[in-house]
Amino acid sequence: MSEQREVPEGVREDVAEMVGDWRDYYEAKLGFRNHWYPVRFSRELAEGEMLTVKVLGEPLMLRRIDGEVFAIRDRCLHRGVPLSRKPDCYTKDTITCWYHGYTYRWQTGELVNILACPDSKLIGKRGIQSFPVQEAKGLIFVFIGDMDPLPPLEQDVPPGFLDDDLMVLGKHRDVNSNWRLGCENGFDTLHIFIHKDTTLRHYRDFNFPIGHTANPGAITLVENEGGPQGVEDDFSKHHPVWEGVIDDRIVVRGPRHNKVEGTSASSGTSIWLPGVLKVDGFPGPGLTQFEWYVPIDAGRHIYLQTIGCKVETEEDRVEFANEFEAVWKPHGLDGFNGDDIWAREVTEPFYADDYGWVDEMLCEPDSSMLEWRRLASRRNRGIQTPDDLR
Ligand code: FES
Ligand SMILES: [Fe+2]
Repeated sequence: MSEQREVPEGVREDVAEMVGDWRDYYEAKLGFRNHWYPVRFSRELAEGEMLTVKVLGEPLMLRRIDGEVFAIRDRCLHRGVPLSRKPDCYTKDTITCWYHGYTYRWQTGELVNILACPDSKLIGKRGIQSFPVQEAKGLIFVFIGDMDPLPPLEQDVPPGFLDDDLMVLGKHRDVNSNWRLGCENGFDTLHIFIHKDTTLRHYRDFNFPIGHTANPGAITLVENEGGPQGVEDDFSKHHPVWEGVIDDRIVVRGPRHNKVEGTSASSGTSIWLPGVLKVDGFPGPGLTQFEWYVPIDAGRHIYLQTIGCKVETEEDRVEFANEFEAVWKPHGLDGFNGDDIWAREVTEPFYADDYGWVDEMLCEPDSSMLEWRRLASRRNRGIQTPDDLR
């Protein structure tokens, strides 16, 4: 018997039926609910300050109070205006709506007063939605959802990211594409074709093919209970393609530092719920790139890029910080990944009306992407829908 299931608002029923075993992924236009998402770096929110950010369609306001970060929905209960339009914080722990004085406690969201109507029966009985926050590795993570008990952060970050000796540096920006096109651009085995001219080749020894032929044995599904859920792609098991040939003539070549067979740029990539890529040995030897594609709304995502480096001493830390500023940020996160960004934005219109998900014509190595769509559909903790934003 086929499953009868209603599609969320904004999702096409005909497409949902056609995509089959990755229906959840297709429906998760606004992302997967009940997961942890990094929204900003800790350094961007000083004591007593506030910032606004939209995640999975949810308008959030964050404030740091006595070192701890709290997040509430940026929408007054009274008439729905954004509190952030003119934030009034008369006490350290509260925020008052600028319009009629509804006053909320940052830590809980509770309506603690209405300054223009202090005897209202609503006081103490209602609250604005608040969201759990956790800081790790210099990032502010917010839990978008309502699960109780909360799943631990370790389950929503790639293996190794929280290691004590890993120093993490990075940057973020908004990209005009759906978050899934970010995940798929990063994990897509064939898209290295776009990187063949990268300036990164001037800064390191680089064996970087223009593509790969399909090898199903390279893919591992990681679905251990209590751990992160993801798909790993082992580059050492791929057969690299070095030259592009048209009518017997070589027209492009991948940068190749020496004659060693295989890719030396990275030992492999993996993609994890709720939408975070890990690239081993990249952008330089001994480094690991971790990057998140955090849904803002259906057409945009926060591209939050980080590079992790194992450090033991203060000297190691300084050295990595200097290299990050001088090489890895400009030539890796900006230069190399700049190509990824425009590729996603140019792909977006094809998928924007949803029919791209069934009109696309994938080829053999794209099977790794399909594994990710299926795994994400099996293992997510919920789909964010427009109803969740009411
Ligand atoms: S709209 Fe916020 S108090 Fe009236
Ligand atoms: Fe890329």
